[in-house]
Amino acid sequence: MPTRQQVHNFAAGPSPLPTNVLEEAALGLLNYEDIGMGICELSHRGKEFKAVIEGAEADLRELLQIPDNYTVLFTQGGGTGQFSATVLNLLAAHRQAHPVPAEEFKPPILDYVLTGSWSSKAYAEAQRLCAAPFPNCPSFGEPRIAASTKSSSWTRLPSKDEYKFSKDAAYIYYCENETINGIQFPHDKDSEEGGFPFDLIPEGVNLVADYSSSFISRPIKKFEKHAIIYAGAQKNLGPSGVTVLIIRNDLLIDTTKIQNELGCLPCLPITYEYKILSDNKSLYNTPPTFPIYVSALVLKHLIKNKGGLKGLEDINREKSQLLYETLEKAEKQQKAKLVVRDSNARSWMNVTFNIEGDSEKEKKFLEGAENKGFKQLKGHRSVGGIRASLYNAVAFESVKLLCEYIEEFCEL
Ligand SMILES: Cc1ncc(COP(=O)(O)O)c(C=O)c1O
Repeated sequence: MPTRQQVHNFAAGPSPLPTNVLEEAALGLLNYEDIGMGICELSHRGKEFKAVIEGAEADLRELLQIPDNYTVLFTQGGGTGQFSATVLNLLAAHRQAHPVPAEEFKPPILDYVLTGSWSSKAYAEAQRLCAAPFPNCPSFGEPRIAASTKSSSWTRLPSKDEYKFSKDAAYIYYCENETINGIQFPHDKDSEEGGFPFDLIPEGVNLVADYSSSFISRPIKKFEKHAIIYAGAQKNLGPSGVTVLIIRNDLLIDTTKIQNELGCLPCLPITYEYKILSDNKSLYNTPPTFPIYVSALVLKHLIKNKGGLKGLEDINREKSQLLYETLEKAEKQQKAKLVVRDSNARSWMNVTFNIEGDSEKEKKFLEGAENKGFKQLKGHRSVGGIRASLYNAVAFESVKLLCEYIEEFCEL
């Protein structure tokens, strides 16, 4: 039976958490701050949990330098919940900004940038929610593909001239890091060099970003160009069960009022309305108290022990560089192949590759890895192959040992 110290966990999510945080959380689960009750046994409206959630927000604001005109919310439903919530809230915001009578209503365009499986799922959900409720009536919105790299099997990002944004879209949506395929927008490049084309966003169009698998791993590029940034916690922040939303304040819309007064909007489930969540400081209904508690501990740990966002950026760059260099060496000798062909588009968080040769070879690689304590390296079930996820809690030493194993297995 391996101990925690003997295991190197490269899971894509839920992912490893810092051991010292889990030790503290285990104590808090039994007896939070010596009050004789565990954190999960306390009211979410009591003073203890209030301090936890307020501390988490303050630390997140400090870590990401979140401007005052953005609201931070902790909610449930995961990234998938936000595929729906972003559509419904932003359709309401667009309707509020265009209060024409129902007879003159024209469904707004929703522009989606498709770079992998998750942005494609978000697009599919927008199509589902926008569909006309009955024949001979307009749809609620028109989701469109503003750019797509599907024809490359998601092995690159769009080039600047491939983006076609509509000037009056209700919003533009993108996924900053595609966890399954291992594609990420480079944060140190501008749009000419393959970065996200922030300069092409039409004036006044809202930008939505799914940051689920790269949240707090490095700075968010052009933060203030975004209207909504969201992330499921279970990669870099905490246990699954809590979703973090960062929303520009003008998008906290009373959707029921807009629907009643103007119509032409789909109905929005109450716990998905950003204004309701914000008016109730993330406590409209019972929040996932334990995941929020652990996330709060992780944030403190990142600020105190990991050098904040700059420290995380530096170490995450180093980890991914080392692994990509090793795999490039293996690729030159036809022993392995990186999935993402465009090196600008390679994810710092999810490194995807194949072992060259027949399928037995890859199986052998994974078995050997497992025996040496390198866990959860198998690629996503939809694509196969190998995926090493290098989230914040994965130590540099673990990546170094994995690289040594790759060198040994591939006889480099
Ligand atoms: C980038 C991205 N977006 C969305 C999701 C969906 O998140 P959830 O499973 O929390 O609904 C995932 C899940 O891994 C993801 O990696």
